[in-house]
Amino acid sequence: MQWPKKDRNQQAIDLAGRGNVNLALLTGQRIEHAMRPTLLFAVMLMASASQAIKAQVAAAPGVNAPGTIATRQAAAARLDASAIPLSAMARLGRKMFFDPTLSASGKMSCSTCHDPSHAYAPANPLPVQLGGRQQRLQGVRAVPSLTYLERTPRFKVGLDTAFDPDSRRLPKATRTASNPLQNTNTGSADSVNALFQAEQVVPEGGIDWDGRAVVLATQASGPLLDPREMANKDGEELLARLKVTPYANELVSVFGPEVFKSPSAGLANMYLALARFQIEDRSFHSYNSKYDYYLAGRAQLSTEELRGLKLFDDPDKGNCAACHLDKPTKNRLAPAFTDYEFEALAVPRNKKLSANSDATYFDEGLCGPLRKDATKQTYCGLFKTPTLRNVATRRVFFHNGAVHSLEDAVRFYVERETRPEKWYPRRADGTIVMYDDLPATYRANVDVKDAPFNHHRGEQPALSEQEIKDVVAFLNTLTDGYQPATSTAAAPASLAGEQAAAKR
Ligand code: HEC
Ligand code: HEC
Repeated sequence: MQWPKKDRNQQAIDLAGRGNVNLALLTGQRIEHAMRPTLLFAVMLMASASQAIKAQVAAAPGVNAPGTIATRQAAAARLDASAIPLSAMARLGRKMFFDPTLSASGKMSCSTCHDPSHAYAPANPLPVQLGGRQQRLQGVRAVPSLTYLERTPRFKVGLDTAFDPDSRRLPKATRTASNPLQNTNTGSADSVNALFQAEQVVPEGGIDWDGRAVVLATQASGPLLDPREMANKDGEELLARLKVTPYANELVSVFGPEVFKSPSAGLANMYLALARFQIEDRSFHSYNSKYDYYLAGRAQLSTEELRGLKLFDDPDKGNCAACHLDKPTKNRLAPAFTDYEFEALAVPRNKKLSANSDATYFDEGLCGPLRKDATKQTYCGLFKTPTLRNVATRRVFFHNGAVHSLEDAVRFYVERETRPEKWYPRRADGTIVMYDDLPATYRANVDVKDAPFNHHRGEQPALSEQEIKDVVAFLNTLTDGYQPATSTAAAPASLAGEQAAAKR
């Protein structure tokens, strides 16, 4: 028994599709149909469809404007919102973020690895960065962008919040053969219900590739104390550095005189300030990519980008939107391009990582070694689904940085099963070591059910080379800082028109 993501995703596609067929509606065909039956029936139909029809009419200026009036207005409001000044705490956090004196080497700040001019990720193409007291120790994971973390839910293993009866989104595909429920007799309604319930319990949210920082405000202890990163020996050493910064007196005025009394109080406040900076400063979540303009009805996607979007959504092609959600939420929040859940994609082992020179070392994501608490075997090898906003600015991809181009990242999805010889090494006897970056016992955790992984060896990949290019073209629309080529002067007017139409 399986709940394919396909089903729950269909809804999103229906919604997207509606926006794209508006030309047919504008010709009035559908209204004519409605007029044919009795007048009463027609009136009822018109009333129920009026909202949708208005949306279509109002969408006229942007022919392929997606969604509804309400979602377009929400996207436009995000584009038009003026920046809110940072709180005193966030301003302090900004100073800390760019302060190299907080590191043991005196040379490394958060911004060394999280470069603001590079979507808060490294500008260099190294799979992992160097840090530590002498700046020579290699990290073990690719540095993620820090953009769009602000809506990440707390880490928890619990009800699948992505499961939403209103959106008809179904829970994820039953994970794997090692799932004890796999062999349940699903013949009776009760056992189906049991499975349904069980499937809603999934790990979700949290910060870092393995979600081990429950929330943003606890994350910063990681890099500040990690011997491979900013390498403070302990909290005492870090607090001593903090005390002699030029902004030490500001810490006292924001947090009170107790702030330097103990490392626990001082550092908790420090991490909080760093989190406030990331949450408040617009540069971490500007929602002004070309796709956001498109969602607001203020930019057109090119033919190639639209093809890419369609493939991204199509459950039989890319199926990317099953995990990288690309439609506004029910509450009209911008699409986050992640469902904040965890998956084992079995990215190939990265031989360039010094940690990997030890053949017995494996980064098992939710199961450690960086995370110490999660123990369930079915979670081993699972990593957090990252947002794809700003993904085109990245130089390396996936948690171990094994992939170096966006095209290859997309290609991996469609070739992992169909052409594994391109991605994994061979044993002496010529057989392929599938999923070589996971211990053999956990290879059953790898997602082989969700498209595009359901195409088998020797079959055609779910996307052709041209289609991979189309998806990449679409992913390129997710980079912040889009400058609309033409004047947007007409857009606010048309939005005002939409608002008026909506009120009528
Ligand atoms: C030496 C490079 C380096 C430095 C310096 C560094 N980080 Fe990171 N950062 C990383 C890596 C690597 C990860 C991924 C860690 C993991 O998943 O285990 C990461 C992850 C993060 C995340 C989680 C992102 C996500 O997608 O969940 C946040 C937030 C973050 N860093 C903030 C900071 C802050 C704040 C500082 C300064 C106090 C900092 N980093 C300093 C390398 C660095
Ligand atoms: C089953 C859920 C799922 C589906 C479907 C999915 N992804 Fe992902 N995606 C993930 C997870 C999980 C990761 C992180 C995996 C890792 O690093 O081990 C990821 C990572 C990525 C990355 C690397 C991002 C980075 O910051 O390094 C790209 C690019 C990407 N996905 C694109 C796509 C595209 C394009 C598709 C459709 C062809 C797709 N994904 C389908 C879950 C999914």
